[in-house]
Amino acid sequence: MDDLGSAAWPPEPIRTGRLVLREPEGRDRAAFVELLASPEVHTYLGGPRPRDELERELPGVPERWPGSFVIDLDGSMIGQILLRRATGHRRPAAAGKADLGYLFLPRAWGCGYAGEACAAALGWFAAAHPGEPVVLTTQTANLASMRLAAKLGFTEVERFEAWGAEQWLGMWSPVTASR
Ligand SMILES: CC(C)(COP(=O)(O)OP(=O)(O)OC[C@H]1O[C@@H](n2cnc3c(N)ncnc32)[C@H](O)[C@@H]1OP(=O)(O)O)[C@@H](O)C(=O)NCCC(=O)NCCS
Repeated sequence: MDDLGSAAWPPEPIRTGRLVLREPEGRDRAAFVELLASPEVHTYLGGPRPRDELERELPGVPERWPGSFVIDLDGSMIGQILLRRATGHRRPAAAGKADLGYLFLPRAWGCGYAGEACAAALGWFAAAHPGEPVVLTTQTANLASMRLAAKLGFTEVERFEAWGAEQWLGMWSPVTASR
C-alpha cells in the first residue's frame, strides 16, 4: 500500500454532526497504542501488536501521511480511517485503487461513529479525486465491518480466500453511492 500522494493534503479538519476528522497529533499517541494493541480490534486483522513494542517504537507524534485520518470525539481520538493506494493488492480489480480501512476503539463501537466518519472521508475523497472508485477488503466473518461497508454503499466485486479466511472485496464509487 502507498499513500494517496494527494495534492489536497492535509485538508482542513472535517466536521460531521458529532466528530472531527483530522491529522494525528502528539496527544493521540496513547489512543494509537490502545488501538493497535487491542485484541478485540484485531480479531479479523491478523492479531494485535505487543503493547510494550508499541510503547517503545511509536513516534511521539504518530506518523502523518495523505489519507490517514484520526477520528476525534469531544477532543479525544476514538478511531482511525485510512485511505491508501492499493498498489500491491492481490486481486487485479483492486490494484492501484484507493483502499478504505477503519479501526475504532471498542468503547466507541455501536454508536454509528464509524459510519458517520467513513461517509465524511469518502465525501472528502470524492471531492479531491473526482470520479475515482474506492475499494475495501474485509473478512466475511467480520459482520460489523460487512454491515458498515454495505451501509456506506460498497457493493461486492468478489469473495476470495486469503490469510486463512474468506475475504470480501467491495467497491464504492460516487455514482453508485448516490443512487
Ligand atoms: C468495523 C467497525 C469500525 C464498526 O464499528 P461500529 O461502531 O459497529 O460501526 P457503526 O456503529 O457505524 O455501524 C456498523 C453497522 O454494523 C452493525 N454491527 C455492529 N456490530 C455488529 C455485529 N457484531 N454483527 C452484526 N452487525 C453489527 C451495526 O448495527 C451497524 O449497522 P446499523 O446501522 O444497520 O445498525 C468496528 O467494529 C471496528 O473497529 N472493528 C475492528 C477493526 C476492523 O475489523 N476493521 C475492519 C477492517 S477494514
